[in-house]
Amino acid sequence: MLSAVEPVGRTIAIPALTPGDFQRIQQLAYQKFGFDLRGGKEDMVAARLGNRVRELGFGTFSGYLDHVTSSAGSQDFVEMVDLLTTNFTSFFREIAHFQFLEKFLTSPSTRQKPVRIWSAACSSGEEPYSLAMACLESGVPNFRIVATDISSRILQKARSGTYSLDRLSGISSERQHRFFLRGHGKSEGFCRVKPEVRSAIDFQSVNLVQTYSHSTHFSMIWCRNVMIYFDKPTQERVVNTLASWLEPGGYLVIGHSEALNGIQHPLRYVQPAVYQK
Ligand SMILES: C[S@@+](CC[C@H](N)C(=O)[O-])C[C@H]1O[C@@H](n2cnc3c(N)ncnc32)[C@H](O)[C@@H]1O
Repeated sequence: MLSAVEPVGRTIAIPALTPGDFQRIQQLAYQKFGFDLRGGKEDMVAARLGNRVRELGFGTFSGYLDHVTSSAGSQDFVEMVDLLTTNFTSFFREIAHFQFLEKFLTSPSTRQKPVRIWSAACSSGEEPYSLAMACLESGVPNFRIVATDISSRILQKARSGTYSLDRLSGISSERQHRFFLRGHGKSEGFCRVKPEVRSAIDFQSVNLVQTYSHSTHFSMIWCRNVMIYFDKPTQERVVNTLASWLEPGGYLVIGHSEALNGIQHPLRYVQPAVYQK
């Protein structure tokens, strides 16, 4: 069955997504990266994956799914995850969290010990770079940021620290001047985060719904705007594992549109979207 045809002679068809294909994608997404793709997301799935199925030369979604679940298709499986996940982010997103961070960084007890912050679904890097800038501004003597995401494509972008200038629109000119280098010539219209900020961050690949490990516990974990895609049992597992990686007294920061209502966890509510171990 064909759902799109290109005019003028050459016919390039995007295969239709059948209910059986959608169910297979739903199961895969849930088992492998915790995504809760309930019914109603068929159009989104077809729109995001359709072109890729065609580009790889598969006439049906089921052929494509056989491929991505085989060992030969592991790279294309990673790409499927990229296509299904949403990477929207921005510098200093949800400013109340950065005000909370500033208070934390400037409190006398914080300044006496190393500060370790994990940005646990860091997307293209704006969140961990904002965290590093806030730490540098606070003058906290000893800090390190770990930034992780499931998507290898987005991590590559994050590591490069290169953005188009319009991404800086919400950042004060003082911050832009202190923390970004502007591109010239071929790089006109782009900027790059300065090395002193980039070198404060270790980027790694971590799938929050699978087993992972760190070499340290954290003073703060920022896990924002990803749990919204998980169902309650998955959220409960993810939050409890995150809590186990917090130091006693450490903070978990989640997105303002997320909540820990209805799940069991060992954390104390501090303020909207902030919890303490
Ligand atoms: C909307 S972005 C959030 C970025 C940032 N935390 C913020 O709030 O601006 C969600 C990110 O979660 C990542 N993600 C989705 N499922 C994941 C999983 N199972 N493990 C780790 N990261 C995941 C996506 O790749 C995406 O980059």
